[in-house]
Amino acid sequence: MNEPYSPATPRPISSTSPSTMKMFMGFLAVFTVAQTIGTVLFCLYLHMKMDKMEEVLSLNEDYIFVRKIQKCQTAEGQESTLLDCEKILKGFQDLQCKDGGAGKGQPKFEMQRGHKHHEHLHLMHKNETSVTAEKRQPVAAHLAGQKSNKVVSVLEWQTTTYGPMNNSLISYQEGKLKVKEAGLYYIYSQVSFCTKAATSAPFTLYIYLYLPMEEDRLLLKGLDTHSTSKSLCDLQSIREGGVFKLREGDMVFVNVTNSTQVNYSHGSTYFGIFKLW
Ligand SMILES: *[C@@H]1O[C@H](CO)[C@@H](O)[C@H](O)[C@H]1NC(C)=O
Ligand SMILES: *[C@@H]1O[C@H](CO)[C@@H](O)[C@H](O)[C@H]1NC(C)=O
Ligand SMILES: *[C@@H]1O[C@H](CO)[C@@H](O)[C@H](O)[C@H]1NC(C)=O
Ligand SMILES: *[C@@H]1O[C@H](CO)[C@@H](O)[C@H](O)[C@H]1NC(C)=O
Ligand SMILES: *[C@@H]1O[C@H](CO)[C@@H](O)[C@H](O)[C@H]1NC(C)=O
Repeated sequence: MNEPYSPATPRPISSTSPSTMKMFMGFLAVFTVAQTIGTVLFCLYLHMKMDKMEEVLSLNEDYIFVRKIQKCQTAEGQESTLLDCEKILKGFQDLQCKDGGAGKGQPKFEMQRGHKHHEHLHLMHKNETSVTAEKRQPVAAHLAGQKSNKVVSVLEWQTTTYGPMNNSLISYQEGKLKVKEAGLYYIYSQVSFCTKAATSAPFTLYIYLYLPMEEDRLLLKGLDTHSTSKSLCDLQSIREGGVFKLREGDMVFVNVTNSTQVNYSHGSTYFGIFKLW
């Protein structure tokens, strides 16, 4: 009894269902796509908002820093134990120093406090090694000839007004320049001298690497042939320079064939060294 009826019952269902089903499925698909796009857009918006919030928070930090400075500059603020005024003011002074002078520093700081504060924090986060490396002075020395009346086997030198001489990394003793750090150095020297037509041997300028245990090593050599003029003193100069790999504690010096012929007038005789690497 059921059997003849049953094929009739599903028929109306199957005849109405495909169109309803199609519509329903289409709607579902559109809804899903819309939802996905919506979610992505919302996530993007949230991300942007978070960035903004971070910015605002860091600005807030900067504002607090400035407020602390203002408080510390008043008498009552300095008495407050909550504020570590010494540290805060020191930090502020460091910023001003970095700006180059307190006079110029202050207005600039007011204008760009946010940016400067970041730089300050950044500096504090850097470790000691990198900070000292940044502050490192160039390693260089430039000396002028020091007149000596006797014949010397190593020329003697003295500091000049403008020439650098940093005793912490390059030291001087008895005519020799000593480097405290191994590296590549440019070494140079010029010697001005008088030659007489009568003398026979050529005047020679040498730069030597001093080796206490063995024979000194010749680094540079410059010769000058004699003048043919009959005058008593023909002033001439020899200049030489080159790059050398020195070890820690190495010493270099200058000597000439006849030191009594050297002319020490200002700027004409000098000896220098600087570190390239
Ligand atoms: C500082 O940084 C250098 C390299 O930049 C590293 O070799 C050294 O270990 C660091 N020192 C400390 C105390 O973090
Ligand atoms: C210059 O120094 C070298 C190395 O020490 C030495 O052999 C030479 O005799 C010196 N020359 C003079 C003129 O003193
Ligand atoms: C010499 O160099 C050292 C570090 O390399 C530095 O601390 C010092 O101030 C320098 N001295 C002078 C006189 O420049
Ligand atoms: C060195 O020079 C002086 C002055 O020019 C001269 O009198 C002397 O004979 C020279 N000495 C040598 C060894 O050439
Ligand atoms: C050195 O040279 C200058 C010229 O530049 C001359 O006037 C002076 O007399 C010279 N000095 C000696 C000691 O020869």
